[in-house]
Amino acid sequence: MPETIKKPETIKKIVTVVGARPQFVKAAVVSRSLRRRPSLREVLVHTGQHYDANMSDIFFEQLGMRAPDYNLEVGSDKPARQYATIMERLLPVLESERPDALMVYGDTNSTAAAAITAVTLGIPVVHVEAGERMFQRKDMPEEVNRILTDNLATLNLACTERARCYLIKERQAAHRIKMVGDPMYDLFLMTKAAVEEKAERLAPGYGLEENGFCLATLHRPQNTDDENVLRTILDALDDADMPVVLPVHPRVTKKIDRMEWQPRNNLRLLDPVGNRDLIDLLLHCAICFTDSGGVTREAFFAGKPCIVPVLANWWPDIVESGWAMKISPSRENILSHLRTFRPCVEAPVELFGDGNSAGKIADALEELLLGRGDLSPWNYDS
Ligand code: UD1
Repeated sequence: MPETIKKPETIKKIVTVVGARPQFVKAAVVSRSLRRRPSLREVLVHTGQHYDANMSDIFFEQLGMRAPDYNLEVGSDKPARQYATIMERLLPVLESERPDALMVYGDTNSTAAAAITAVTLGIPVVHVEAGERMFQRKDMPEEVNRILTDNLATLNLACTERARCYLIKERQAAHRIKMVGDPMYDLFLMTKAAVEEKAERLAPGYGLEENGFCLATLHRPQNTDDENVLRTILDALDDADMPVVLPVHPRVTKKIDRMEWQPRNNLRLLDPVGNRDLIDLLLHCAICFTDSGGVTREAFFAGKPCIVPVLANWWPDIVESGWAMKISPSRENILSHLRTFRPCVEAPVELFGDGNSAGKIADALEELLLGRGDLSPWNYDS
């Protein structure tokens, strides 16, 4: 007789808030895993922080995500006004949905604004990718967002052991912290399998040879706001010994257009690409150059050396493993490290979990909402 699934007596509702590219990627796998739990129901809210088709829609399409239940359409703005607009528009959604918990990812303005809104209504916050610390607030608005959200969250889900330890050191109660691994690693494994199954690779279409090019991404204000810094990086990538392909963030495209900068040699500028195409390029490049935390991790998962033009405490497990190298972005540094940086050690396994982070996040939510009940949002003492 086929096994019948018993309808659960209580169904708990989770509102997930996403707004920017890295969150779509993580939510794609976690939402899929939540849908398999009859006791959990997810309502998806998109703040609209990222709104261009190739910054948002493409992720929903390619990752097979269902359309958001709400889009707050906040668009781009100065951080303080962006927080304010998100809070104002999220408030009525939370008041009418009355969820049992709100889940947020990472460290963007959408993450912090949603967490603050939920806490004002007494809704417990679950924070995925909690606890990472760069120890640099000046150039990193994300650091402030993450610290705020970690401190407001009832449950902090860390994707590395190191992040869990930072939270313990900050005297957060141990029962409010769980190391679940990185849902981006789950998705990477699935995407890699799908890319390898495809007969056609993306790189040859761009005239690139397998293992013969650099995949670059660049979007941090510290590397892109100042024209001289941006020009130095672009000139160096253009003069690299190998072809460099750079899918350009819209903020950087606007800057490049204003500077009237054009590549003359080895740099190819592309429109932003979805996650599947990024992984396709990553799996077939020789080396990666990025100031994105997500792409640094994906390069590590793909077993590709990665040069990072950021000097903060940047994904230290990857840097210490020898697979990423932090540099200050001078022309000499960029050119010499692109030429010579090749790790000569094996990448450590399971730094970011075992590929079942999404399942562990669903377990943690069930435990929080259906289990012991000792995680009231206001019970911070252990
Ligand atoms: C945001 C996150 C960053 C994350 C990144 C991923 C914050 C503080 N930063 O940075 O942590 O790594 O997303 O991409 O939340 N723009 C468009 N179209 C869009 C989105 C943005 O043209 O769809 C342009 C606008 O000019 C905007 C600028 O990009 O002002 C910056 O966008 P914003 O969302 O503020 O920050 P990101 O740099 O994307």
